[in-house]
Amino acid sequence: MKLKITGGRLLDLTDGSLTPVEVLLDSAQGTVLAIGRDLAEADRTIALSGQVLLPGFIDMHVHLREPGFEDKETIATGARAAAAGGFTQIACMPNTNPPLHSPELVTFVRRQAKASGAAQVLPIACITEGQRGERLTDFEALKAAGAVALSDDGKGVQHGGLMREAMARAADVGLPICIHAEDESIAGPGVLHTGAARRLGLPEIPGEAEAAMIARDILLAEQTGVHLHVCHVSVESAVSLLRWAKARGVRVTGEVTPHHLLLTEDVITRDDAVFKVNPPLRSERDRLACLEGFLDGTLDMAATDHAPHTAAEKQQSMADSPFGMVGIETVFPLLYTHLVRTGRMTLPALVQRMSTRPAQAFGLPGGVLRVGGPADLVAVDLQREREIQPDTFLSKGRNTPFVGWRVFGFPTLTVVRGRIAYRSGEETGVHDGF
Ligand code: DOR
Ligand code: ZN
Repeated sequence: MKLKITGGRLLDLTDGSLTPVEVLLDSAQGTVLAIGRDLAEADRTIALSGQVLLPGFIDMHVHLREPGFEDKETIATGARAAAAGGFTQIACMPNTNPPLHSPELVTFVRRQAKASGAAQVLPIACITEGQRGERLTDFEALKAAGAVALSDDGKGVQHGGLMREAMARAADVGLPICIHAEDESIAGPGVLHTGAARRLGLPEIPGEAEAAMIARDILLAEQTGVHLHVCHVSVESAVSLLRWAKARGVRVTGEVTPHHLLLTEDVITRDDAVFKVNPPLRSERDRLACLEGFLDGTLDMAATDHAPHTAAEKQQSMADSPFGMVGIETVFPLLYTHLVRTGRMTLPALVQRMSTRPAQAFGLPGGVLRVGGPADLVAVDLQREREIQPDTFLSKGRNTPFVGWRVFGFPTLTVVRGRIAYRSGEETGVHDGF
């Protein structure tokens, strides 16, 4: 089966030029057969109208909630939402119930994902049993079952000695460690960054709770040689630490979320849990440091930390509601509109941070669109402005702080391994052989 896409414009990642092309894909092999003009006939043709063709996005930080919290999200709804956001591969965090700490659970996630027919799902397994921070899981068995990395995301590994042992073993088996950097003895029961916490009379999560653990783990990574990936960097000191570590030659990568790039604690003027996220929205100084790190590559990639929760949970007070925001369906339009259209970064640079770098950093296929490579691509509409409306999301989660924002760049077509995973205005996850 062959699928042809006409009417698109291919972005050249080296010079930013756009060239009208046709793309011919092999839906059985999942590869790109040809990119050019007047290509051979296909079994099915999709005609675009000038949308820009990009390599499918890759998000290394998503919460899919299954098993255990299917009222928030399932693997199928999350994978479809990801495809609607232009993602062809997403890595899911293990803080489910039970947590992804056994090979059987990793296999379960991969099976469910396959059935969804949407974005590919790469499971990240627990570092410790039950994410309790006490005993390490069986890294080798988890890798054999298909885990792409290890993390106790949602919680930091508090014991430095245990983390050191985890890194040594992860280095041995060749799995990256993704850290949720939060020293609980500093963060305590905090819910907001310093200024907002004071304003609302709630306990704070100081930036040092994050930076202190990153400093520890950089030193341990240097000593063990593991690939350390720092999740959701949000403070200035953490960006500086990553810059220092990279200059020293430590094998470290970092990610930043759209909310830490575009929002600060100043948006929190009342007790509204839609703004409650961990790490919390920080100061303008922190935001600018994250942006600088994202522009200069210290922060290698964007990651959404897509964290769906039910409306009832998010209607509770800041103190009682769970942490988290959804982001998978809006990250590209938000960053394109606010960073590329404003001239802060080029479109190729943004695509590097959303496709190419995550693929390189985690050794994944894709990240560039080329003949012979995986048929993972997204077509985005850079001309049309649309309002972010949570009731249009395919995710079960509606908890976005960006409701009502007007943005350009929504995906109109996402192809995963040569099969249509999303097409705007159409049912997703359902394909007739494509
Ligand atoms: O805001 C967050 N939500 N931060 C985390 O670390 C966990 C996540 C979740 O699972 O909801
Ligand atoms: Zn997370």
